[in-house]
Amino acid sequence: MTSTGNHGIPSMSKGNLGKSWQLRTENNIEIVEKFGACNCDYHKACGNNGFVWDEVKRDFDWHHTGRVNIAHEAIDRHAVSWRKNKVALYWEGPNKEHAKYTFAEMKLLSDKFANVLKKTGAKKGDRIFVYLPRIPELYISAMAIAKIGAIFAPLFGGFRAEAVRDRMNDCSAEMIVTTPDMKRLGIDPIRHEVPSLRTIMICQAPEGFKYGEGELSYDAEMMYAPEEHETEWCHLEDPVIMHYTSGTTGKSKGVIHVHNAMIGHYITTKWVQDLRDDDVYWCTADPGWVTGTSYGIFGPWLNGASQVVYAGRFSADSWYSVVDKYKVTVWYTAPTALRMLMKAGDDVVGRYSLKSLRYITSVGEPLNPEVIRWGMKVYDLPIHENYWMTETGCNVVANFYSLPLKVGSMGKPFPGVQAAVVDDKGNILPPGVPGNLVLKPGWPSMMRGIWNNPEKYKEYFRIPGWYVTGDSAYLDTDGYFWFMGRVDDVIKTSGERVGPFEVESALLEHPAVAEAGVIGKPDPLYGNIIKAFIALKPGHEGSEELKREISDFVKAKLAAHAFPKEIEFRPSLPKTRSGKIMRRVLKAQELGLPLGDLATLDDE
Ligand code: WTA
Repeated sequence: MTSTGNHGIPSMSKGNLGKSWQLRTENNIEIVEKFGACNCDYHKACGNNGFVWDEVKRDFDWHHTGRVNIAHEAIDRHAVSWRKNKVALYWEGPNKEHAKYTFAEMKLLSDKFANVLKKTGAKKGDRIFVYLPRIPELYISAMAIAKIGAIFAPLFGGFRAEAVRDRMNDCSAEMIVTTPDMKRLGIDPIRHEVPSLRTIMICQAPEGFKYGEGELSYDAEMMYAPEEHETEWCHLEDPVIMHYTSGTTGKSKGVIHVHNAMIGHYITTKWVQDLRDDDVYWCTADPGWVTGTSYGIFGPWLNGASQVVYAGRFSADSWYSVVDKYKVTVWYTAPTALRMLMKAGDDVVGRYSLKSLRYITSVGEPLNPEVIRWGMKVYDLPIHENYWMTETGCNVVANFYSLPLKVGSMGKPFPGVQAAVVDDKGNILPPGVPGNLVLKPGWPSMMRGIWNNPEKYKEYFRIPGWYVTGDSAYLDTDGYFWFMGRVDDVIKTSGERVGPFEVESALLEHPAVAEAGVIGKPDPLYGNIIKAFIALKPGHEGSEELKREISDFVKAKLAAHAFPKEIEFRPSLPKTRSGKIMRRVLKAQELGLPLGDLATLDDE
């Protein structure tokens, strides 16, 4: 399906957009009115009227050739079209080093790396982890892995040894692509505990680096790799991406996405991000998380868009300079980052030209209305929030470019996605009544399974006929969804998803810790911070020093991003009679909320 453009309304430019929105208060809901058109067919995309997923399929080569591979559609078909010399990737490093790669260059490099992978014995269906900072090799690896029909499993750089071990062992991964530093921190300590791991591919190793058994140099292998590679043609239902993500219970789980997900990646990027061929798009998310792959790798390239990757540290100056330097037009970011930018103040905005920006979107946690209002003031643009999760593969609810934007709402369902608010039995609740946010299964990029864990997968469908998101929300009378919170114990900190169980397990390995309960504690900047309640073993005294030691212990073992920022020692923790720590009670106590039903509570 191609865009029908502006529906007769003059196309939006930053100039007239500035005049086209206004804030007004109506029934206590603030609405930004916009009178523009997005990159979609208004009636189909935004009116949810007559849209069929099948029509989207026509935009892919496989629809005509029968040969399926997401990497072919994202890179190779552009490399032989008028886009071959178009920049696919503008890359900027931590020290302002920069590089750019056209679609033709991305094709060549990913073909070569696909040959390298095959030379090591990697094949269709293998699980290949990519544990890299945001260097170009990450993007080349993603495409090469898909091209050989293997499964690309990105791993956030913040993870440390035990998290890496658990994820690799869960799916018996054959290979990991990494750097010397990350190997030292995250792989070496557990290498002998991952029997399936055959090959460690090391990127950007310095001269003189000592390669151990099964370790190969990316650079050396690429030097002599053949340029010609025949893409492995797959079935639409073959797995291609696996994200490890967290739930309430148990260790992190492998969410499986298949080639067919490209339909969702492609069309939601086009319509939710309103991406056009002359855009320069920047998704600030790390590909270790789903936003950084669906919208920071696949979605934009499936649309043939030029995207920016910035691998440096966050600061208001560095981020604005990226927008200014690359003339970013569409910017997909997250509430914590926006709150930090707001905190950095308005003056820093004035040091850069942000005139190129025409559209800003946000995801991952609720976006505070005050941030949107601030954005209008300093960027002269509203920020459009959208909603989805690792398991949904793509945006499912959004404030589309062409819709009146309700500040504080997640927006309306994507066409072809049926969303509802239901009670625990599946009865649809009327507008204004909070309940479970659920989706009708069947959209193309919905996960296809949880690796090695069909029981876990089934839990998502515990309300008959629906995929259960685990979020609570309500619907308003205009069909907009409003987020209320998680119904489980999953923690969102800086927009990153953390499972309390994994943090508790790491805490329990510390010699002083007898019991641990972990909750998300609301925080104005990070959304939530991780707070741990700890009962110490006899003979240990709680102290500030011990808190620091325990935090560092978790950081080194599990993740640099999932350690408890706050620790509170307690003589004992509230437990059920069967001995399960009641996080619900800890959270209620922390927030001064009613404790609810404590019938099963054992002590305290
Ligand atoms: C939360 C991130 C409020 C939600 C794409 C969801 C949001 C979880 C929003 C998925 C939003 C995402 N407002 N909460 N606009 N978007 N969430 O898997 O709790 O890292 O279930 O995917 O983020 O997190 P995940």
